Amino acid sequence: MTLALPGTLGIDFGTSNSAMAWAAPGGTARLIPLEGETTAMPTAVFYNSEDLSTHFGRDAVAHYLEGTEGRLMRSLKSLLGSPLLLETTVVNNQQVSFQDIIATFLATLRERATQALGAAPTRVVMGRPVHFVDDDPERDALAQASLLQAAQAVGFTDVTFQLEPIAAALDYERRLNKESTVLVVDLGGGTSDFTVVRLGPERMAQADRSQDILATTGVHIGGTDFDHKLSLEQVMPLLGYRHIGPEGREVPSRIFFDLSIWHLINWLYQPRAIAQAQALWTNYTDVRLHQRLMRVLQERLGHHLAHEVEQAKIRCSQTDADAVMDLSYVEAMLSAPMTAAAMQEHLHSLLARTVACARECVQRAHLGHGPLDAIYLTGGSSALRPFQRALQAEFAGVPLVEGDLFGGVASGLAYSSRN
Ligand SMILES: Nc1ncnc2c1ncn2[C@@H]1O[C@H](COP(=O)(O)OP(=O)(O)OP(=O)(O)O)[C@@H](O)[C@H]1O
Ligand SMILES: [Mg+2]
Repeated sequence: MTLALPGTLGIDFGTSNSAMAWAAPGGTARLIPLEGETTAMPTAVFYNSEDLSTHFGRDAVAHYLEGTEGRLMRSLKSLLGSPLLLETTVVNNQQVSFQDIIATFLATLRERATQALGAAPTRVVMGRPVHFVDDDPERDALAQASLLQAAQAVGFTDVTFQLEPIAAALDYERRLNKESTVLVVDLGGGTSDFTVVRLGPERMAQADRSQDILATTGVHIGGTDFDHKLSLEQVMPLLGYRHIGPEGREVPSRIFFDLSIWHLINWLYQPRAIAQAQALWTNYTDVRLHQRLMRVLQERLGHHLAHEVEQAKIRCSQTDADAVMDLSYVEAMLSAPMTAAAMQEHLHSLLARTVACARECVQRAHLGHGPLDAIYLTGGSSALRPFQRALQAEFAGVPLVEGDLFGGVASGLAYSSRN
């Protein structure tokens, strides 16, 4: 017999990390341990081709980085709404679609929730960004439908959706002791979402909060875009990006773009792509750069590079100090700097677009009767110092409040359906 658990499971299926929280009716949400005691886990699946096992989260990333033969899947959420979602790929001798891989990941989340709660959860609220896909409502609706389908396929029967920034706001609201108008900022791996919302202890009890949501905006920019840009600027030139060949022309740049986008890297390891890369050598004046490129492709080091860039970004972002990426596995003694100044410069235009989206949200909210009381930050990328500076410059004098960067959305989702 399956016990029906009264309460709500919030699932934050993120581009980079996923988290879950459980709230009993009227109770406080608690985050569910997913890997040991850790409550956020990378949205990653590793198919081990040595023993045909499947791994998830940190375990998946670790296997991959240790050099186990197999395939690592990340940034799966970015494929929702794209035709690539239904494209199949061979992993462990099976033909699977990316939609199936998302379902496999969700099945693991369901198992771990069941284990932590002692029974299978029934009522589920899943998060969704304001836009899965920018400026294309049809593909956006398709993205949500595909995620729903994957959730249902693994046994989540009662699933509703809530906007991720609204979930973040509901979590923050519990800390407030007076009514406040807040700009909630959720800067994650794939999307930046903004919401102006009225929050307060008296409002919390109301079932329908739609009147309190004054505006929402979102843009498809997140930490993976920062990584892409930083990789292009700081690492790819070492492999020939913008390198001028003997005929005075730059090396064709497509390969460097693909090599700095996590979910495109795998395609470059196919024999045809390797042959095309090999043929690029005539475009190089300095063949050493081409040798590095070929080593990265032949030794399948692309994800290592991407991981290295992301880690350097995080180190540099937290301390504002310079970091160095060790690339000696590509060529002896090779390294690349990641400086605070480089981050500021290369991320400037992405951050300006992100802040413009925040500005638009506040404009749309028509705050006639007073300014913002606070800006509430959630999502891993909101820790980025250059972003915080740009936001503070735009909204001078409004206090920035850092929330639970990796768990706030999941908790808010668990609070989203209380009846
Ligand atoms: N200290 C840090 N400084 C800057 N960026 C960081 C920091 N810590 C994590 N990140 C970045 O945050 C991103 C992940 O954030 P988060 O887990 O909130 O995203 P997500 O929920 O998976 O994505 P989304 O909400 O867009 O689907 C990654 O791109 C990661 O590199
Ligand atoms: Mg998120």
